[in-house]
Amino acid sequence: MKIKIAPSILASDFSKVGEEVKRLERCGADLIHCDVMDGNFVPPITFGAQMVKALRPHTKLPLDCHLMVLHPETHIEAFAKAGADIITVHVEACDISKLFQAIESFGVKKSAVINPETPAEKLFPAVDEGADMLLVMSVHPGWGGQKFIPETLKKIETLRNYCVRTGRPELDIEVDGGITEENVKDVLSAGANVIVAGSTVFKAADAAATIGRLRG
Ligand code: DX5
Ligand code: ZN
Repeated sequence: MKIKIAPSILASDFSKVGEEVKRLERCGADLIHCDVMDGNFVPPITFGAQMVKALRPHTKLPLDCHLMVLHPETHIEAFAKAGADIITVHVEACDISKLFQAIESFGVKKSAVINPETPAEKLFPAVDEGADMLLVMSVHPGWGGQKFIPETLKKIETLRNYCVRTGRPELDIEVDGGITEENVKDVLSAGANVIVAGSTVFKAADAAATIGRLRG
């Protein structure tokens, strides 16, 4: 399976996000992960669709929008029109079936995510509903720079097995939070193939080399 690296702009210098996105594209990133936080679903506030719209002209890479918001249904149209390529919604915040219909109606790829305390099985309906990607949080959402929660690995395995069993062996499984050059091998061998990396990529002296090594 193709391994894709998705740097999270949460860890970037917000005074020059456009330039940072261009730099990451040159460094070999496959997706740009946009962490949207509303101050309700998670305590911090980051940015909304306006940021996605502003970044759109700066990169050809897919904009992977992770919505950590309450009532995501009220924001789908804005993100789709801003240029999101993938919209990921939390199963803890919405009815996946309804949200997937809304996301699909705008021609955007649909993805669902679970928090660390949510069982892997809660993503099975998303697979059945034709998800384009699954996301497993490997830290509690809200902040970058946290420590990877190893119990997450079992959930990735459960999900990859379910995808294989249900005839979608190549479905993208993304993992988000605390991924380093040391633990990425475990995440990949558990069955994930899309790696979100905030601090690891942005703190790197040589982002291109780090992205290369994260591919395992
Ligand atoms: C946490 C975010 C993650 C996080 C990743 O709520 O969804 O994308 O910023 O950052 P690192 O890689 O620093 O854990
Ligand atoms: Zn994220």
